[in-house]
Parts: sequence; C-alpha cells; structure tokens
Amino acid sequence: MEIVTRPASMTALSREFRAKGERIGFVPTLGALHEGHLSLIRRARQCSTQVVASLFVNPTQFGPLEDFQSYPRNPERDADLARLAGTDVLYIPKVEDVYPAGYRTYVAVEGLGTVLEGASRPGHFRGVATIVTKLFNRVAPHVAFFGQKDAQQAILIRKMVHDLEMDLEIEVCPTVREEDGLAMSSRNVHLTPEERRAAPILCRALRRVESAVMKEGERHAKCVLKLIQETVATEPLVFLDYAAVVDAETLEPSDRLQGSILVPVAVRVGTTRLIDNVILKVEE
Ligand code: PAF
Repeated sequence: MEIVTRPASMTALSREFRAKGERIGFVPTLGALHEGHLSLIRRARQCSTQVVASLFVNPTQFGPLEDFQSYPRNPERDADLARLAGTDVLYIPKVEDVYPAGYRTYVAVEGLGTVLEGASRPGHFRGVATIVTKLFNRVAPHVAFFGQKDAQQAILIRKMVHDLEMDLEIEVCPTVREEDGLAMSSRNVHLTPEERRAAPILCRALRRVESAVMKEGERHAKCVLKLIQETVATEPLVFLDYAAVVDAETLEPSDRLQGSILVPVAVRVGTTRLIDNVILKVEE
C-alpha cells in the first residue's frame, strides 16, 4: 500500500491510473477506522482495480463546540487496517495543504444541508460537501463509497454529484452493526461502559418502527415519532435530539408513510452524540 500525503502527488497518481485504464474506487474517511469503513474498502476492492482511501479529520465539518480536537486519531493503526482490507493507496493530506491561509471557497447543497443533522450541527454539511469535492478532485474516482449510517450525508453527496455534473458513481453500503445492534461509529469509543450498554436503544427504536410500518401497517408519521420517543425514553441515559419521517431523496417531512421514507434519529448519550436511521420502502 502506498501512502500519499501531497495533494499534487495524489493528482499525479490518479492521472497515471486513469491513463492505464484502471477503475478507481474511493473510500473517504475521517480515520479511526472500524468495521464499517473496512466493509466499504472491501466493497471498493470487489469493483475497482485501484482502491484509494483517505484519512483526513476535516476541521470545516466540526462546529466550534464539537469534538474536532478529541476526535480519535491513530494513523498507524488505520494504515494497517486499510492495507489489510485491500487499500492500494492511502491519501493522508495535511490540513494546511487542504485549507491554506486565505482559503475561501465552500460548497453548500441548499435545503439538504441545513435540516436534521444540519440543523443540529450548523455548517457541518458545508464542510462535508467542500472536503468531499476537494478529495474527488484529487483522487478522480470512478466510484466512491459511503455508509448508510450517515444517510443524510449520502443523500446530499449524491445530489451534489448530480447538480455539479461530477463524473462518478456514488454507492451507498449497508450500516455495519455490533452484535447488539449498535451502529459502528468512531464515536462509540467515547461511551462509558454504562452508556455503551444503554446505546443500542437507538437501534431498537428503529427496529420497532420498521416492524410497526412493514408488518403492522402503520402509516402515520406522528405514531412513528411517538414510538421512537417512547422507546428512547425507557433508557434514562439516552436523550433524543431529533427523530423525523422524511422523503428519502428530498428530506422533506412526510405526514403519511408512502414511497421511499427515511427515518433518521439522533440521540445524546452522556457527551456523545449518536445517529442511526432506517429506510422504509412503503407501498400504499
Ligand atoms: O463520513 C465521514 O467520515 C466524513 O464526513 C467524510 C465523508 C470522510 C468527509 O470528511
């Protein structure tokens, strides 16, 4: 596995790959790799001839009171895991190269970036869209892989790629879970043992929703939201930040469940914020 740190070297390498007719699969990450990231790398391995992953804790997607400084960082461990999962090139740019003094250009996906996670984390998706654009420019992938856990991010990136006529495919891969259902996240390491025991309530709430809608025929968003509130409230260590029932493409709220519906939920467990979601394909 080759490690590349200079943006210009990344461009030179991706040009070389493209000139040779290689298919570049790309997995962007913030580092602190876990099984969720590794599943994306393995998927990229299956359908690309060159697998590029990036490690970059992107400062512009963290708010001033968020965990940029304490975000888990372990590039040596990440490099080993990325290599074992099948990465050919690991791109680790420096913050000062990505955002040099005087940097002024940002990408915003209107509407999709300011609701749900975007409302709880102002500026987050502007930072995500900007760094993903910059990484796409350097890596020049044919296909890029994102996890379903960050559903809003995946929807927003698809829209950005479409609107900005970027010439690549986006593939969204299933959420990887611990045995008790907790979605894998780099932030899970911040949970105390008690918080870790309480956290799977998030996934249990979503499973109850899935069963109520798909098996019992529930179609009212209000009832779905009440079910989530009641389930999360059974766990005193977990506080609901938001839950919503929205169209899985436009993120517009739906009163009735019909078509492709996204149910995203965010909770706080101690000082840690966790998100999860389910997509329901509902026929009338
Ligand atoms: O999902 C993430 O890890 C990040 O938001 C991403 C896509 C790597 C951009 O920094």
